[in-house]
Amino acid sequence: MSIAYRKEEQKLILETENTSYRMTIERNGMLRHTYYGRKAGIGGRYSREGLYDRGFSGNPYEYRIERTVSYDTMLQEYTSCGVGDYRISSMEAENADGSRCADFRYVKHEIRKGKYCIPGLPGVYDNDGEAETLIVTMQDAVTALTVRLYYGLLPETDVITRCAEIINEGEKAVIIHKAGSMCLDLADGEWELIHFYGRHCMERQPERMAVPHGIMKIASSRGMSSHQHNPFVILSRKGTTEDAGECIGIMLMYSGNHMTEIEKDQFEHVRVVTGIDDRAFSWKLMPGESFFTPECILSFSHEGLTKLSHHFHQTIREHVQRGKWAKAVRPVLLNSWEAAYFDVSEESILRLAREAAGIGVDLFVLDDGWFGKRNDDNSSLGDWTVNPDKFPAGLSGVIEPINAMGMKFGIWIEPEMVNEDSELYRSHPDWALKVPGRLPMMGRNQLVLDLSRRDVLEYIYGAIAKLLTDNHIEYVKWDMNRGLSDVYSAKLPADRQGETAHRYVLGVYELLDRLTGEFPEVLFEGCAGGGGRFDAGMLAFTPQIWCSDDTDAIERLDIQYGTSFGYPVSSMGAHVSACPNHQTGRTVPLRTRGIVAMAGTFGYELDPEKLNEADLREIRQQIGDFKRFYNLIQNGLYYRLTGPAGEKDYVSWLFVKKDQTEALLNLVVTRARANEPQIRVRLKGLDPSGIYRMEENDELYPGSALMYEGVVFPLLHGDYQSRQIHFVKEEA
Ligand code: DGJ
Repeated sequence: MSIAYRKEEQKLILETENTSYRMTIERNGMLRHTYYGRKAGIGGRYSREGLYDRGFSGNPYEYRIERTVSYDTMLQEYTSCGVGDYRISSMEAENADGSRCADFRYVKHEIRKGKYCIPGLPGVYDNDGEAETLIVTMQDAVTALTVRLYYGLLPETDVITRCAEIINEGEKAVIIHKAGSMCLDLADGEWELIHFYGRHCMERQPERMAVPHGIMKIASSRGMSSHQHNPFVILSRKGTTEDAGECIGIMLMYSGNHMTEIEKDQFEHVRVVTGIDDRAFSWKLMPGESFFTPECILSFSHEGLTKLSHHFHQTIREHVQRGKWAKAVRPVLLNSWEAAYFDVSEESILRLAREAAGIGVDLFVLDDGWFGKRNDDNSSLGDWTVNPDKFPAGLSGVIEPINAMGMKFGIWIEPEMVNEDSELYRSHPDWALKVPGRLPMMGRNQLVLDLSRRDVLEYIYGAIAKLLTDNHIEYVKWDMNRGLSDVYSAKLPADRQGETAHRYVLGVYELLDRLTGEFPEVLFEGCAGGGGRFDAGMLAFTPQIWCSDDTDAIERLDIQYGTSFGYPVSSMGAHVSACPNHQTGRTVPLRTRGIVAMAGTFGYELDPEKLNEADLREIRQQIGDFKRFYNLIQNGLYYRLTGPAGEKDYVSWLFVKKDQTEALLNLVVTRARANEPQIRVRLKGLDPSGIYRMEENDELYPGSALMYEGVVFPLLHGDYQSRQIHFVKEEA
């Protein structure tokens, strides 16, 4: 059974391999949520849980005498608004008469084969129609405002997706002020919140705390999913560890303003509402129109956080990343940014490329500085034509020789932005987001193009399509280096300005959809000053995203650790850069830098000419190792063996092939000590009855010994030393 309707009990039941999700249609059409968690049978009589007469929690009119039913105390699937539930609401609507209420009651439901799609927004997809969809329609009887709740079931990944469609079936315009993708009501309050906060150069740091009474909100109003708050949270039972305990992951597949509100109420229920951030949002819905919210991916694990991460990794690998590059072997790249910054020219790039070819790189990426008159970050964004002073023979002057060296060629663009000092801005000053009569806030001395406008989208599409048609470009790094402010579109009327930020995101998705569709061979890597737009929405178009502008391997331990809770290794751009590191000034052994970057899509961001022969040998070895372990790293199961860098004096992580035949153990010492205790790391996920050969010395170990007793490391002297150990299971 996957999705079932039990008519006699008025229950809708969704079941994945290990989880159950249930709702009940009340007599008056209120849709009660009853359970989400570990797979459980349904027994006994119809539950009256929560249906008591409670002081100061009012009752819908038809229950005014019985007084047991209250929106304020009931667990719900998607809330109404303004009709007596004083907790956070799923949505807010303003009717033509100025009232702010909607009372949604069940009308019908439908169960379909296959996964639903969301017009204009990326969603989880199924591969052979293995998913199922439930659509529950609810309506407000007075205004005919309708909400359709979509549930997608991916049974084998223990994932349930959700989104909502709000439809105006009435005769007058309605203003939507809040449109949550989903509401999840949990029956008790014993939950902790894990969320992922950060900043530029230190993204996605986990923070864990008990959910208090009251309302908490994790959100971004920056127009991008942001460095500061990732649209992914986990609710875990107190004491849940990597290996045991219950937890629920909630990931919004959206790249713009987002929010997750969490409220613990007077009766110890916990409600979570996630969706587009409502602070500056509004959407005018004319009669007959509908509004779709972004997709939300939900997963539950009763076996701890690692298992939950595996659900999300598998979902992103198999149901979010799309196109050829979702599964194809990604090239090892060398990016010119930290090697040359803006100082690029045909001559310097060809020299760097020759060095890259010499160390065995597959793809050479020309980063910023190649176009318009761009010699620093003050000009030329918008003018996507090559700078003839730097590249007199055009891009082909570097692409052809680079291809002849046996490498693919890739390029950096930042298509959503414009500098005032550009031909584009001089011709179309109204194409940038700014409020009439006000000087706009600048970020990196640039402005954001108004991607809610058709003419702007067509210009960007045309410019990038031309670049990709005229040149043999096989990789694009799509950057975005500031948040949105002065969010005002010259093309929208006053009462629709609240739509601009969401329309902007729809514009980004449309551009990416068209370009990735038209150029399916090109690998797109997302970037927003590193990991400022690292989310499942972008991953639907750009299967890898530059994880952070901080390339320091020790800092990356924390950044990649936090990122790994929701996102797979195959999504995390990670490069070996020069030392002393350009962001922190720290010096880390090259070998360690390699091991850390290998827990990502792997590449280099340095000038090999500045390295000595031993380093060059080490790099050739690293690239060889990465390629040898590619399948194990990119498609294996990822285990966090320690917490973040500060917790112990070392950090360790492990890749295990799904069939348990191989494992790759990684360890980095983050603080060297005198007379220190020995490091013992216990592996996970192996076959306990299998025998594993440690490749470096051919010693044999039972899987059970590696997992229960652990591997004891010899004392490693010096900060930032590292080990990488490959285990291969012996044939039975
Ligand atoms: C920010 C990116 O994250 C960097 O890697 C680099 O591409 C610069 N932008 C270029 O301006």
